[in-house]
Amino acid sequence: MSELNNIALKIIGNGKGILAADESTGTMTKRLQSVNVESSSENRLKFRHTLFSSKSMKTCIGGVILYDETIKQEFNSKKIPELIINTGAIPGIKVDTGTKTLANSPEEKITEGLDGLRDRLKNYYKIGARFAKWRGVYLISNSCPSKIAISTNAHALARYSALVQEAGMVPIVEPEVLMDGNHSAEVCLDKTSEVIKKCFEELILQKVDLKGVILKPNMILPGSRSDQKISSDEIAELTVKCLIENVPTEVPGIAFLSGGQTEVEATKNLNAINKINKSNFIMSYSYGRALQQSALKYWSKNLDDIEGTQKVFNHRADMCSLASKGKWTEQVEKN
Ligand code: 13P
Repeated sequence: MSELNNIALKIIGNGKGILAADESTGTMTKRLQSVNVESSSENRLKFRHTLFSSKSMKTCIGGVILYDETIKQEFNSKKIPELIINTGAIPGIKVDTGTKTLANSPEEKITEGLDGLRDRLKNYYKIGARFAKWRGVYLISNSCPSKIAISTNAHALARYSALVQEAGMVPIVEPEVLMDGNHSAEVCLDKTSEVIKKCFEELILQKVDLKGVILKPNMILPGSRSDQKISSDEIAELTVKCLIENVPTEVPGIAFLSGGQTEVEATKNLNAINKINKSNFIMSYSYGRALQQSALKYWSKNLDDIEGTQKVFNHRADMCSLASKGKWTEQVEKN
C-alpha cells in the first residue's frame, strides 16, 4: 500500500499539482465553442497535446487527469499516456460517467459509473493510468445539500475509491460543493464540512487506505451570487479550518479544484492557504479552468501557434506552483 502513497506524493509533492484536462466531450465542446473553435476530435487533441508537451509539465505538473477519448489517442504515433510519462508526470483518468438527477431529491445530482468499473479500471491501468478521479457535486440552497445527497454521493465515492485502490491506483476523491448560489462563506464552511466528514466516514467504513488517496475539495468561498466580499486571507483561514477539522491526518494531500474562480483568484487563494498551512497535508492544485483558460483563449486565435500557447500555459502553471509553496506574489504574476 505504500506504493499508493508514493504515487500520491509524486503527483502533488515538490511544488507540483494536477492538470485537470478530463473535460467530457460535452464540456470540452462548450469550452471550445466559447472561443469559436470547432469541437472536433483533432482539435481537442491538438489543444491538449500542446499543453502536455509544454516545458512546465516537467516542473509544475505531477499528474494529468485525462478523459477516456484522450487516454486512447496518439499524437505523431506516440500514445498520450506515454508522452505524459516521458515528461515525468503521471497519467490519470476520469472514471465517473457523469451526474443524473437524484431520486427523491430532484434538485440534486448523483454521480454514476460504478457498474463495470472494476473491468474498466483494469484496462486503464494497462494503458498507463496510475490514478483516477470521481466527482460528486453538491448544491447549496435552503434544503440542500440534503442528507440523501450527502450520504449517497459519499457511498459512491467510497465504492469507487476501494475499487481504484484494488486496481493499484490512487483515487482522487472529489466532493465538489458548488459555488452557485447566494450563500455566505460561513454556510459554505458548514456544508462543505458536513460533506467531507461524511465522505471520510464512508471511506473508512469501506476500508479505503487513506494514505493512498488525494482529496480534491472546493475552497471555502461565498456563493457566486452572494454580496459578501472576503479577502484571500479569510478564505484561506476558513478553508484550512474546514480541512483540519474534517480530513483524517493519514491523508497525504489535498488538491483543490478551481470551480469557477478566475485564474488569478485560484492562484492567490491557494497561495494564502499555503502561507498559513501548518498541517501535515500538502495543499496543491488540480485545476481545469484555472490552468487552461488563458491558454485556450490565446490558442483559439491561431491554432498553429503552439509556442505562444505554451508560453501562456507555462506562466499559469508556474504561478500555481509558486502558490503551492506560498511563494506567489502580485509582482511575479505580472512578470
Ligand atoms: P475546475 O478547476 O475547472 O473546477 O475543474 C476541476 C475539475 O476537475 C472538476 O471536476
